[in-house]
Amino acid sequence: MVARIIPAPVSVQERGGSFRLTENTRGKIEYKLDPKCGLPPEGYTLNVTRTRVKAVASTPAGLFYAKQTLRQLTDGDQIPCVRIKDYPRYSWRGFHVDPCRHFQSVEGLMAMIDVMAQYKINTMHWHLTDDQGWRIEIKKYPRLTSVGAWRTEWDGGVHGGFYTQDEVREVVAYAAERFITVVPEIEMPGHAVAAIRAYPELSCTEEPVGSFSTWGSPDIVLCPGKEKMFEFLDDVIAEVSVLFPGEYIHIGGDECKKTRWQKCPACQARIKAEGLSATADATPEERLQSYAVRRMEGILAKYGKKLIGWDEILEGGLSPNATVMSWRGEKGGIAAAEQGHQVIMTPSHDGMYLDHYQGDPKIEPETISGDNTLEKVYSYNPSIPVKGVQGNLWSEYIYSEAQRQYMFFPRAFAIAEIGWTLPENKDFTAFCTAVDRACEDLDARGINYHIPMPEQPGGSYNHVAFLDKAVLEFTTSRPMRMVYTLDGSEPTPESATYEGPFEFTSDATLRIACVTSYGKLGPVRTLNIEKQQLRPSVKAEGEHGLNLRTTYGFFLNWADIPASAFWTAPMPIEGTRDIPKLEPTHYNMTGMNFYAAEATGYINVPKDDVYIFSTVFDQLWIDGELLIDNGSEVKKHTRADNSIALQKGGHAIKIRFLSNVHGGWTTARNRGDILYRRADETDFHTVRTDRLYRTI
Ligand code: ACM
Ligand code: ZN
Repeated sequence: MVARIIPAPVSVQERGGSFRLTENTRGKIEYKLDPKCGLPPEGYTLNVTRTRVKAVASTPAGLFYAKQTLRQLTDGDQIPCVRIKDYPRYSWRGFHVDPCRHFQSVEGLMAMIDVMAQYKINTMHWHLTDDQGWRIEIKKYPRLTSVGAWRTEWDGGVHGGFYTQDEVREVVAYAAERFITVVPEIEMPGHAVAAIRAYPELSCTEEPVGSFSTWGSPDIVLCPGKEKMFEFLDDVIAEVSVLFPGEYIHIGGDECKKTRWQKCPACQARIKAEGLSATADATPEERLQSYAVRRMEGILAKYGKKLIGWDEILEGGLSPNATVMSWRGEKGGIAAAEQGHQVIMTPSHDGMYLDHYQGDPKIEPETISGDNTLEKVYSYNPSIPVKGVQGNLWSEYIYSEAQRQYMFFPRAFAIAEIGWTLPENKDFTAFCTAVDRACEDLDARGINYHIPMPEQPGGSYNHVAFLDKAVLEFTTSRPMRMVYTLDGSEPTPESATYEGPFEFTSDATLRIACVTSYGKLGPVRTLNIEKQQLRPSVKAEGEHGLNLRTTYGFFLNWADIPASAFWTAPMPIEGTRDIPKLEPTHYNMTGMNFYAAEATGYINVPKDDVYIFSTVFDQLWIDGELLIDNGSEVKKHTRADNSIALQKGGHAIKIRFLSNVHGGWTTARNRGDILYRRADETDFHTVRTDRLYRTI
């Protein structure tokens, strides 16, 4: 059988037999460049017979891709006899990296480039500037990197780094050798706090700005009212344009808050001078953004470059020759195409954002949000003709290179196939087989990747309380065998295979993991299954709400609160959502009063049953037992759901909350919910005031 290639070629004819690679067959492998062969630019033909191998293409890129196909076909010293004709569906097959939120080394980048080229990706979108870091050396503005490339984190650490122009040239050349064009992104007019920290005169207020170490979209943006802001961008592009030989520069344009422009005399003068009054579908400030992007298009043209921007550049009117990168769904891309513009589809929730979850959030490492499983990524198919597709890997919640790779692979292989393969040749089952081979190849290079974990439908949790029996079912985010043990030992690929739901009637320890077709074990989950008696209740009646006490200070762990801390006397609150909202929040939490809070009272549960609780509060105690402890994890989502058997009625509850910033996430942004579901339910309920009592 001929190995399934990623991305699947246009046509593969198997011919039986194989070509054997030996010392003296090398001369019988021919790569022929024939500009008149009639194949599309990146296309190729590959003929393997028992006696020779011949690749033909009209461009060196085509021959490079023929070689990548040949590499995947080769099995030991055999190449199966085939006739392949192949060319890409799209001319832009991209991946995006974000070294701004968390810096990525040149070596890390090169490893990604190397792999992606083998799967016929031809574009790397390098997001080089953002609020949290400016990552490219600009000789005329040294403070962009001496100041803008470094930030102090809330735990006191310093994070940062930047690429020298020599390093940029090195990366660009390395990519070019592999037929990957690097497209730099220089963000304007929003997501530019790092530049403004270095040069405050670029903003409306010109106020000094401190380290920016939280995620989101601040209102501190560039000032398009000021000519010197455009001079700055012109100078930056003058240096950037010569480092990147490609035809495009990405100018960002997304998520620019326009509140300061409304109050800025320079911005308002510009609006007046340029006649940017409100229209039926745009505010004056949206038209000001459009004006700024249009100016940017002129600057790029001066240096021989074309403009790409995120779909927000549609607001207030598109620049004449802009290419639109559609990330907020396909809507922007469709509108741009209707206006005759080129479009690159990268809709976040349709699978193109590789920073989203790829498995059950209850057990996967923290991510921004979302649900982009390998299958969902793979299923994406642009609904209109476009220039191309791209997978984006934002790095807010990526704290190491290993984690960056974990988020990227194998979903990046799906991006490669969407970009190249005709929809009629896509087949998820066949693709998964090829993914296994590709992942084995990653192992050989020491590159990390995602292997699914066995997941419980409705949300995974590791401590399973039950009354009479526990029925436990497991699924995987992509098809994969699961193996398990019940004696506490570490599962191996030879352990028993999961065949269907478990039924437990006594205490047990279940250790379960996925195992790949090549015998590699994924992360092992350990579940403690415990027969419980109902925790006895007390009569729940009295005043609704909870009692809250607080102490001020920035604490990352509950244990860090000093014994001498001054706690306020308990005060009544209505419900759990009051707990994280005691202080107003600020875009960067500067001057924020951080605090620790403890809320106590009783929760009234509706019937005798096992309850699964979930919360991103630091701790949840029920009947004096620490049920959920989110420990030192980033508290945007929780991986600590837990179950307990409770008798109908009132149970003591204690909630502990630390208002802080950890890993860039501000806990004050959490909604402040305690959620519960009964073991036979799949949806969580929110614990509202009517279930809470201050006193009994
Ligand atoms: C984006 O994700 N803000 C383009
Ligand atoms: Zn302004």
